[in-house]
Amino acid sequence: MTISTANKQLDKTTALILAAGQGTRMQSETSKVLHEIAGRPLIYYSIRAALDAGCKDVVVVVGHAKEQVARYVVEMFGEQVRMAVQSIQKGTGDAAAAGLAAVDGDNKNIVVFYGDAPLIVADNIRAVTLALEAAPSSLHLATCTLDDPTGYGRIIRNSTSSIVAIREQRDLRSSEEANIREINPGIYAASLEFFRAALASLKPTNAQGELYLTDIVTFAVANHQPVVSISLPTDVLLGVNDRVQLADAEGKMFSRIANHWRRFGATISTGAMIDDAVRIGRDCVIGPGVILRGETVIGSQVRIDVGCVVTNTKIGDASLLKPYTVIGNSIVDKYAQLGPFSHIRPDTNIGEGAHIGNFVETKKTTMGAGSKANHLAYLGDGIVGERTNIGAGTIFCNYDGTRKHLTTIESDVFIGSDSQIVAPVRIGAGAYVATGTTVVKDVPADALAIGRVRQENKEGYAERIRQRNRSAKGSSGAQGQ
Ligand code: UD1
Ligand code: CA
Repeated sequence: MTISTANKQLDKTTALILAAGQGTRMQSETSKVLHEIAGRPLIYYSIRAALDAGCKDVVVVVGHAKEQVARYVVEMFGEQVRMAVQSIQKGTGDAAAAGLAAVDGDNKNIVVFYGDAPLIVADNIRAVTLALEAAPSSLHLATCTLDDPTGYGRIIRNSTSSIVAIREQRDLRSSEEANIREINPGIYAASLEFFRAALASLKPTNAQGELYLTDIVTFAVANHQPVVSISLPTDVLLGVNDRVQLADAEGKMFSRIANHWRRFGATISTGAMIDDAVRIGRDCVIGPGVILRGETVIGSQVRIDVGCVVTNTKIGDASLLKPYTVIGNSIVDKYAQLGPFSHIRPDTNIGEGAHIGNFVETKKTTMGAGSKANHLAYLGDGIVGERTNIGAGTIFCNYDGTRKHLTTIESDVFIGSDSQIVAPVRIGAGAYVATGTTVVKDVPADALAIGRVRQENKEGYAERIRQRNRSAKGSSGAQGQ
């Protein structure tokens, strides 16, 4: 799932992607095409399909919330994509006309599609565009056949099966038309010359009073230009108009992404949710309910068990994430083991073979190779060397109420359970910190730091306490427990 532009065949084709609409049915302050599925905005998928198809010139028509949409497109795709502006949203035909104004004059072929159809892939664009190359004077469009065509433009054919029109849901003229299951997924290809003439001819004579891109079909028919349909599989079709369709599209995208990595040799449970930008190596096992987000890279032979959430993190080969580990913006080297229930916060660096166990929280901390913190600890702002053992209940006291301070623990150190390490402080290589110590000053290499109160045993004292408690209870008349 990478962006590749290496396809010479569509060098002379401009892809025009319409993304200026408001998306009223989303009920949102955000532009529809910036709503995300599988970790990327809808518009990303349309642009990538165009680039992957090999279109050298890609123009995105922006309008509603154009600053936000344009900012995203520029950040993500840089100079690979140009922008055109449709200032007033007067319909898809008007949007396409706004886009035409920006088309590279050298390009003679145009393919137009929508920014709200994220399941369309490069092959679909290529199918329609290559058909155009074979028959340059025709209008080419994709069609799909659905069990439930509700909401889509219907493909109207005459008695000889030629396409004569596309009729929008709101403009259907009869129940026969409503029952037509062949619909318009919205990919059109023709010559620049054809689009110029066809778009100039559009009239807003429809239920919405808009200029419909779909009416270029009627123009072609009136001008005796053949209309060629290319039938596409139904799984590419899904125009996202509301949040129900957004969820549907995301579900389909997740299963498409999982299948992609399965084909590369990963075992992925159904129900795992893997973002589009994630990479997964061979022989990984991804358990149920696992969520892999953002720019996460999983090496090979990694096992990620039930319910882990991994965000923007690199996991090295043969590492193991036990159930319900949450990790973000961090790096894990090979053979490491995390979890169950570890919370690895940003800028953590887990070394080769290191172990982080249950209820251990880390932040901005480096754990050297082979070091372990197996139970119940907070390791914030720390540098830990190799083969160091951090006992249960250890806390790096990194915050003085104003600033964060660094804890440095060198290699081969043993930190006894329930120790507080008050930063800034350094514990030298090979040192021991006795259980229950509050470390407030540096510990030299190979020293023992012990800072707890000496234990005293008072023989028989327990019975005296019990008697005192009993008499206190009697005199106050307190209720038994
Ligand atoms: C459109 C098609 C319909 C097709 C369906 C497929 C038309 C008239 N209808 O309907 O036949 O079955 O897509 O999903 O084309 N846009 C603009 N400027 C505008 C209006 C829309 O740029 O003035 C953009 C939108 O941002 C969107 C795309 O065009 O990305 C489609 O617009 P939308 O209103 O969603 O069209 P549909 O009603 O879904
Ligand atoms: Ca739509």
